[in-house]
Parts: sequence; C-alpha cells; structure tokens
Amino acid sequence: MKPYFISTAIDYTNAIPHIGHTYEKILADVLARYQRLRGREVFFLTGVDQHGQKVQQAAEKQGISPQAFTDALSEEFITLWKKLGISYDVWASTTHPCHKRVVQKILTNLLEKGWLYKASYQGYYSVRQEQFLTDKERSEDGTFGPEWGEVVFLEEENWYFRLSKCRSWLISFLETHPHFVTPSFRQVELKNAAAKINGDLCISRPKSRLSWGIELPFDPEFVVYVWFDALINYISFAGYLNDESKTNFSSLWPCNDHVIGKDILIPAHGIYWPCMLHAIGFLDEQMPHLLVHGFWTLNGEKISKSTGNVFDVHQAIERFGLAALRYYLMRDAVMGRDADFSEERLLNRYHAELSNGIGNLLNRSLGMISRYRPEGLCRVSLTQECSSLLEGHLNLVHRYYKEMDGSQIHDGLETMVEIVTRTNVFIDTKAPWKIAKESDQENRLSAILITLLESLRIAATLLLPVAPDAGAKIFSQLGFDPLVLSDEIVIPEFPEKYYAGKATPIFPRLLEEK
Ligand code: MSP
Repeated sequence: MKPYFISTAIDYTNAIPHIGHTYEKILADVLARYQRLRGREVFFLTGVDQHGQKVQQAAEKQGISPQAFTDALSEEFITLWKKLGISYDVWASTTHPCHKRVVQKILTNLLEKGWLYKASYQGYYSVRQEQFLTDKERSEDGTFGPEWGEVVFLEEENWYFRLSKCRSWLISFLETHPHFVTPSFRQVELKNAAAKINGDLCISRPKSRLSWGIELPFDPEFVVYVWFDALINYISFAGYLNDESKTNFSSLWPCNDHVIGKDILIPAHGIYWPCMLHAIGFLDEQMPHLLVHGFWTLNGEKISKSTGNVFDVHQAIERFGLAALRYYLMRDAVMGRDADFSEERLLNRYHAELSNGIGNLLNRSLGMISRYRPEGLCRVSLTQECSSLLEGHLNLVHRYYKEMDGSQIHDGLETMVEIVTRTNVFIDTKAPWKIAKESDQENRLSAILITLLESLRIAATLLLPVAPDAGAKIFSQLGFDPLVLSDEIVIPEFPEKYYAGKATPIFPRLLEEK
C-alpha cells in the first residue's frame, strides 16, 4: 500500500490563500517528502473545491461565469503552491468531468441501495455555510451568530441522505477505532458530536437557487450539495469507479492521512465522510485516518480578510525566504494545537537553528577542511570518539523516524537541531585547531573532519522534507548524497580523497523590520 496523503481542496472564496492554508499544504508536503525519503512511493493529492453557492455569488459579482472565475483562481493557487514547493502528485479540481461522473455513479448507487429520499423542508438557511440551521446553531439570544453570515428562511423540496441511519454505526466505529482521528482529544469531540446526530443530511440544492454544481443523475432539477461533492474528490482522484484514472485505487486506499484543519472535522470530515463511505460500502478497516491540525492566528487575532488581519504569503516568501518560512511553520506549531504567527519568533528560530545552527556548522566544517587539508582529505578509519558521536546521531535519526511517523514534525526537527548541537560541542571539545598543530595526530584530525562531514550529511537529510531547496544546496556544497533513510541506517563509505567545496552562506541573516 502506498502512503497516500490528502490535503484539503481549498475553497474558492479564499482568493488569496493565507498563512493558515499555506501551513496545511506545507504540512502535507513535508509528510509526503519524508515518506519519499524513506524510500516509499507516495501519492499526494490536493486541489480545489470549485462548486457551491459562494462561488456562484462571487462570479456573479465579477460578472463572469463560475467556470471562468474558478479557472483564474486555480492558476493563482497552482502558482503559489509551486512557489512553496508543494510536491503534490495529482491536482483535484472538482469540476473535472471524471470527478463528476464518479459523484453521479455514487449517487445512483446510493439511491438504488435506499440511502437517498426526497422530502420537503422549511427552515433557516445559512448562505455562507450553505446549510440549513437548527435551534442548535442559535446563540443564547436566539439569533444566529456572525459565523453563519446571511441567514434566510426557505422552504424547499430536496434530496436527503439517511445520515441518522449511520448514527449507531459511527458511534461504535469510533469506540472500536480510537485512532481514527489524531490528536485523540479531537476524537473525543467527534464522539460527542456523533452521539448528537439527529436527522438526515440534505444533499441537494434546487437549480432554481444554485446552478453551479454537479447535477443529480436521477433528478436534473437539482445539483449536489458542495460538501457531498467535494469529499468524494478524495476517492475519485485516487481512481475509485474511475476507469480513466491511471491510479490503482486498491493500492492507495485507505489513505494514510487526510490533513485537515480543526474547523472542518465536525461535521464534514468526522461525520458526513465516514458515514458516506460506510453507505457506499467501505468496510470499517477501509476508513481513512484524519490528521487534524490547529489554527494559526496572526498577532493573537483570527486571520481574516474582512478585518484585514492577514498578510500576503508571496511577500512573506520574499521577505524571509522559503526555507525560513517553511521551517518556522513546521517548527513552531505543535501538531494539532493552535499557533500564533510572529515575525520575531520566525527570525529567532531561523537565526538560532538554521543560520547559526546547521548553516554555521557547514561553513565551519568546510572552512577547517580547506584550511587543514588543502591537498584533499584522505579516508582514514574512524576513532572511537568519532564513531560514538555518529552512533549517537543515528539514535537520534531513529527518534526522528518515530516523530515523523507520528506526524510530530516540530519534534522531528528537534532531533536535527540536537545533531547540530552535539556536533558543535564535539568541535569545541576536540578543538581541531589544536590537534592540527600536533604532527602525530594527523589521522585523528582526518577522522574528526570526516565525522563533521558525516554529521552534516545526517542533519541535512533530516532537514530535507522541510527545506528541500536549502537542503539540496547544503548537499551541493558538501558534495555528498543524502543519507538513505532506511530502517537499518548505513553511513556510506567516505571517498578515498575528498576536496572541500566552497562554503557560501545558505541561511543569510535577516534583518528585523522596524
Ligand atoms: N473547501 C473546504 C475543504 C473541502 S475538502 C473536501 C475548505 N476550504 S478552505 O479553503 O476554507 O480551507 C482549507 C483548509 O485550510 C482547511 O483545512 C482549513 O481548516 C484550513 N485553514 C483555514 N484557516 C486556517 C488557519 N487560520 N490556520 C490553519 N489552517 C486553516 O474548508
């Protein structure tokens, strides 16, 4: 089974993806890149969620068709993800004809199996969230809060999915599968929500109100509710019921991680999605895993276009550089918890752990090799002090595996930082500049210099998923290949003669903005 990572299909109303969306894509990208480094063939899917009322309204405002609107925005997303180094394998856009066909096949199957029915309903409807509201959603004063946007009273005939029929199945599934959601406190929240399932899910919208969606194959007066359509992208683009797909669905599914934010766990991914899969015929052991990350705030406040508390990701890349931005987002957020974006913390992390950390170690090491071995560094056997340093590093690599396998990227990076620190301490205690003055210590000095290079090889390999470009630059200055991250780690044989490349700073210092 290939590791299969999914990051959400981004919403079209997010004309400019902000740091929160960016974080999620980088998170999924780092997990995918880590798996590739471990020698596994990965399938990484992400894309855009194109249908729905919000898109229709936004397009109307601009006086263009919804397709023209979404096409233009897709380009913007693709450009930004490319700039951020997001290494997705397949781009899922929910207007793709293959996806539409899969959605329609699934709906037909569900109808045949008795999971869908038509009924009339009247109630309050949130245009922003595209759903009917119940008393549960009312604030204490009886009104619907600002998160629901414009709320209107509607009476409509619609198609319903028998969500309530899945209630007891979902409750017992969550009981028997405690690792369905990570972190575990989110699974507790989900269990509470599942116990409250009450009523069925409206899965259609009349075309008279919303035409921008996938038509119901058995009732052309209706289009599919946007969430029902969008969630299916996770399987349609992985080849499910999709003859035209090049991917073999059974080699991918169930996916390793659906990387999602906490706001879309309940009800979409935690309730609708497993119930939909269950109704379609997926077995309990075929349910995916949900990796739920926290939210970023900016200066302690919610990131929001409407209040202007947002900053441009393109500008952030220009200002800090891609490595600093990716590193900070991965290093400062504890998986599953909220985090606050602060330029000061970004600069501190970057300077302490990249510029003065691995960057300085690289300069120092290459500098010493050029100085003490201008004629080339010859291979020698490592002394005990060197082997034991490297052994300690390799233990840390195993800890890195454990953290990264558990999606604890901030802790995974900690092991890289520790390797650099141990190596710097090693340099300071061994003092190669003193050994260089002892004529009977030639071999010992060579062994120490080789050990520095090997330490850098190890640390830079661990950095690669988070900072692929900067990592590649380190390897080009080192003149080495990355370490192969297999279960049994083997340090490759050192070249018979090694000439140090020129050290140029990879992580230049950044000035603090006043
Ligand atoms: N279109 C839906 C997803 C459909 S998946 C079948 C959607 N899109 S979104 O653009 O609104 O959000 C995309 C992702 O970004 C979600 O996982 C959401 O949780 C995440 N984030 C939005 N704001 C965020 C922060 N401030 N911080 C971290 N992640 C955030 O939901």
